Amino acid sequence: MKEQIEDQLKNAQKVVFVTGAGISQESGIPTFRGKDGLWRNYDAMKLATIDAFYENPKLVWEWYNERRQNIFNAEPNLGHKAIAELENFLQVTVLTQNIDGLHQQAGSSNVLELHGSIVKIKCTSCDFKDEIFTQFSKLPPLCKCGSILRPDVVWFGEVLPQDVWKEAIIQASSCDVMIIAGTSLVVSPANTLPIYARQNNATLIEINPEKTIMTLEMDLSIRSTSAFALPELVSIFKKIS
Ligand code: APR
Ligand code: ZN
Repeated sequence: MKEQIEDQLKNAQKVVFVTGAGISQESGIPTFRGKDGLWRNYDAMKLATIDAFYENPKLVWEWYNERRQNIFNAEPNLGHKAIAELENFLQVTVLTQNIDGLHQQAGSSNVLELHGSIVKIKCTSCDFKDEIFTQFSKLPPLCKCGSILRPDVVWFGEVLPQDVWKEAIIQASSCDVMIIAGTSLVVSPANTLPIYARQNNATLIEINPEKTIMTLEMDLSIRSTSAFALPELVSIFKKIS
């Protein structure tokens, strides 16, 4: 792996990471579709849609409380920390589908949360937004305007925050190397980011213990976990930069 990576990365100035649930798996946060997938015990469509929320706000709110509790107990792992460390050597941007904030906790300073954040809440009708208080109410709290508050995350069928998405495309279209770690690449539009990078002749490197639907498009697909492979990759960058 070393030689193959080294000559492709020699002149890299700007690295963009696209990450998914798999990068937080070694922090104890289950993925959605992997073998220990979160969706195993729940029907995704029953929980992560605006209709599900209006139909049963208590169930959806409690599910997010459960996930928030799990996330609050989680620590960034060696994969998150390796990405944060790379900022000392190169221009790094993280485009994450995760809502757990672990990249920022690890020290990454350039993180775009494509699917929102589990610690943020917003009003279902006015433009009120806030960071969530730590104690979680059983029911979705009410906004000053009287409507219920919801997690500020992107649900199935909802559009991504346009300012974030536009910036993500700019970053993906201007990098030398894109490292795609811990995502099945089944959810759009996040799964189009490698295509923008490819259009800019970027080197595409995937890190995933399993093959994905885009493995064949990659210059290099490392069949490994991110907490193992990312520190190794960063040590190579450190050596050649
Ligand atoms: N290291 C790297 N990759 C891993 C690890 C690990 N330790 N463990 C699992 N994986 C891989 C799995 O093989 C899988 O390909 O991580 C991927 C996780 O895929 P998903 O569970 O589909 O998660 P993700 O790609 O982030 O889902 C995208 O879908 O459910 C929505 O909004 C949700 O943001 C999420 C989006
Ligand atoms: Zn309101």
